[in-house]
Amino acid sequence: MNAGKTYDIALVPGDGIGPDVTKAAWAVAEAAAERDGFALAGTTYPWSCNYYLETGRMMPEDGIEKLRGHDAILLGAVGWPATVPDSVSLHGLLLPIRKAFDQYANIRPHRLLPGVEGPLKAESFDILCIRENTEGEYSGAGGRVHQGMLQEVAVETAIFTRTGVERILRFAFEAAKVRRGRVASVTKSNAQKHSMVFWDEITRLVAADYPDVEVTSYHIDAMAARMVMAPETLDVVVASNLFGDILTDLGAAIQGGLGFAASANVNPTRSAPSMFEPVHGSAPDIAGKGLANPLAAIWSAAMMLDHLGEAQASARILKAMEAATTRGFGIRPGAQTTDAITDAVLTAINEE
Ligand SMILES: NC(=O)c1ccc[n+]([C@@H]2O[C@H](COP(=O)([O-])OP(=O)(O)OC[C@H]3O[C@@H](n4cnc5c(N)ncnc54)[C@H](O)[C@@H]3O)[C@@H](O)[C@H]2O)c1
Repeated sequence: MNAGKTYDIALVPGDGIGPDVTKAAWAVAEAAAERDGFALAGTTYPWSCNYYLETGRMMPEDGIEKLRGHDAILLGAVGWPATVPDSVSLHGLLLPIRKAFDQYANIRPHRLLPGVEGPLKAESFDILCIRENTEGEYSGAGGRVHQGMLQEVAVETAIFTRTGVERILRFAFEAAKVRRGRVASVTKSNAQKHSMVFWDEITRLVAADYPDVEVTSYHIDAMAARMVMAPETLDVVVASNLFGDILTDLGAAIQGGLGFAASANVNPTRSAPSMFEPVHGSAPDIAGKGLANPLAAIWSAAMMLDHLGEAQASARILKAMEAATTRGFGIRPGAQTTDAITDAVLTAINEE
């Protein structure tokens, strides 16, 4: 806790429901900060698909430099496929931020909030998925030759570096140390005999430095089944960019859907700001109706405060979210407005 401190946060609300859920997350974060004696100063950047239509860019040329000075970034959602292709909005804003700030750990908590009915019989699980966020299958290495011809070839090469693999595994072991002490490392080393065997080798090397953490290696297919059949057996799950991408969507599904799925893109060295955002997109189908569930964004803001060293305020927000869902707020899509769910969380914060 850093009483009296003011954190300087960049807000990028984005498109569709992004501004609504960012406003909600900000109100809750500010209320928690006030209770714990610190402050948040926000600077809002209007970078979005509308901004693109006006300027021809998703963010200004010096956008990254503008963000660099902030303590953290809170993002809503980016994308409006009716006017701007997703490849443009993604590559023009989100991906450059993750890359420029070396946010190599993508963290997503998966558990059921009280009152939320997931699709599984299991009611109690608490999984922290950690996805490598900068290389692997999404490194972008490759190309197409003989385009449009019969002999056309497409090559997409996964890149795994010792530095990249080791640092994400260390991050996972560190996370397990302060949780329940178990790491599940996910590969497919029976079929992918170079990169994934390499990952398994580095897992064993890193594990040697953490004798108190129990590590088990799983193949991605077996892990997908385990997350459905026995999610309660899992603690920290660490995986490559592609495998982590898929497993975290599964994680969002078993925790009740996108309305609850929070995420952090973290630069653990703190050499640049980290970015916190709900997993969901701009939800064009419900945008403007005031019906977005703000809990995923609020949870992401709680992760931001934790990253900033404000663990008590972060825990306060999670407790308030649980109080709100216990009272039936935010647990069924469209049952209450964004504002009503936010108010329920704010009420719980002020009751504590
Ligand atoms: N990180 C991001 O900013 C991000 C992530 C995913 C998609 N997108 C973009 O968002 C746009 C729409 O994508 P999509 O429709 O495939 O995915 P989406 O996540 O926006 O919506 C999928 C479904 O989930 C519902 N939903 C999502 N969030 C919700 C919430 N908080 N409360 C209630 N319901 C919610 C939507 O109404 C929709 O039916 C696209 O442009 C896409 O590229 C952005």
